[in-house]
Amino acid sequence: MGEVTAVIVGAGERGVHAYGPRIHRPGVGRVVGLAEPDPVRRARAAERFDVPPEACFPSWTDLFAPGRPQLADLALVTTGDAQHVEPTLLALAAGYHVLLEKPMALDDDGCRQIVEAAQRHDRLVGVCHVYRYSKLFAALHDVVASGRLGDVISIQLSENVAYWHYAHSYVRGLTRNARVPMLLQKSCHDLDLLVWLAGAPPTRVVSFVRPTELVAANAPAGAPERCIDGCPHAATCPYDAVAAYVHLEPMLRDLSLHRWPPGLGAAAPLLRRVRGLAQQAPIGAVRRAAEWHRWPVNAVSDDTSPEGIEHALRTTQWGRCAWKVGDNDQPSAQTVDIEFANGVLASFTMHSASHRSMRQVRVDGTTGSAVGELAGLESWLEVTDHRTSRRRRTRFAPTFDGHGGGEGPLVADMLAAVRGERAMGASAHDAWPSHRLAFAAMESAATGRVVDLAGR
Ligand SMILES: NC(=O)c1ccc[n+]([C@@H]2O[C@H](COP(=O)([O-])OP(=O)(O)OC[C@H]3O[C@@H](n4cnc5c(N)ncnc54)[C@H](O)[C@@H]3O)[C@@H](O)[C@H]2O)c1
Repeated sequence: MGEVTAVIVGAGERGVHAYGPRIHRPGVGRVVGLAEPDPVRRARAAERFDVPPEACFPSWTDLFAPGRPQLADLALVTTGDAQHVEPTLLALAAGYHVLLEKPMALDDDGCRQIVEAAQRHDRLVGVCHVYRYSKLFAALHDVVASGRLGDVISIQLSENVAYWHYAHSYVRGLTRNARVPMLLQKSCHDLDLLVWLAGAPPTRVVSFVRPTELVAANAPAGAPERCIDGCPHAATCPYDAVAAYVHLEPMLRDLSLHRWPPGLGAAAPLLRRVRGLAQQAPIGAVRRAAEWHRWPVNAVSDDTSPEGIEHALRTTQWGRCAWKVGDNDQPSAQTVDIEFANGVLASFTMHSASHRSMRQVRVDGTTGSAVGELAGLESWLEVTDHRTSRRRRTRFAPTFDGHGGGEGPLVADMLAAVRGERAMGASAHDAWPSHRLAFAAMESAATGRVVDLAGR
């Protein structure tokens, strides 16, 4: 098999920006069809991937309608969190392999249906657990599998969500309501890493939740409904929408914290300066280059020009005072403690108040310890042998995909699996235990009980 052909289901950020371009490359693959209800997004994606009008559909129900010929080998399902099961089942029934965004489903039954349908139709379903493929966690898994740490005793993992990322995605964003729990939506990646590193099924789980502080009762005095309406706290508020989406301050501050490679952090003041000048440039192409094309600004508006962003801040939820959004109830922290069938104990913390978005991990075994960090573009892993105290630190080259370098290898793995060269390293079958763990943790947090998974 040569190039793999693909259809995109949901031409949003993940489909069009993250994965589509990694597939649509000479000698690799081609995007030959798409389904997207938003006409602007549909047209933009069709143009980007050169998809003819007859292969562009307003919904997955049209693309996978009974009797319609199969257009491609692979369906990339990148619709919203609550829309993963139905298009996946229809794609499998229509003969497609599927690369599915996480979470694979919002309940255990949805996961089961996907795993069983993949078996029934003899098709592959890969789940976008990109962190398995990130430089840090792939290397850490290799270290654990090599036996250098001896028998693993415990794993500690934290997902430190930056204050601005929390405000963006879980207070103002589409995922602000805990009907889709943040632990499942965001941290199914981490639970997946724990299951993968532990190498055994989880048996018992206990979890605690801390509710959000971002409620109207805590709003600073005199804050208007929208940040853009002259908020007196604009200079000091960490959640100011104008600073976030017009001046890109939180992202530039995150960049300025980079230590490796030396000098990377200096890019932030440079970008801050160049962007300001370029936005005033008389040449349109220079002005457009200064627009921010990717997440999180492109989540605020498809029109990322200064005018487009200002309009969004005046008219959409993205411009609201973070304390006054009103219908947000995602937690500001959650802890999960897990016992695995092989005796490994794991402890996970997710919280919303980090100075930057980062994950920290340590795995301690009978003969060695491994400690690692992934923050922004940089990541490192340090492995120490207990008997010799010999310590080896690996710094990984910076990655720019926002997922520690995992996106490219994930897509490559899926395409290789579709070509029949190897099994996919993050199948729906592999992803199911982490989802079960998330459902059990939510049950524990709600009931205050230890949940026993062994008998389920
Ligand atoms: N793997 C990761 O690390 C990672 C990172 C970010 C987001 N995600 C997940 O990716 C998914 C998509 O996120 P996004 O930011 O791209 O969302 P998005 O809203 O930008 O894109 C989803 C698209 O699906 C379209 N859609 C809605 N109904 C449809 C239908 N009937 N047929 C076809 N398309 C339809 C929407 O119009 C939208 O354009 C989410 O589940 C999210 O949790 C995963």
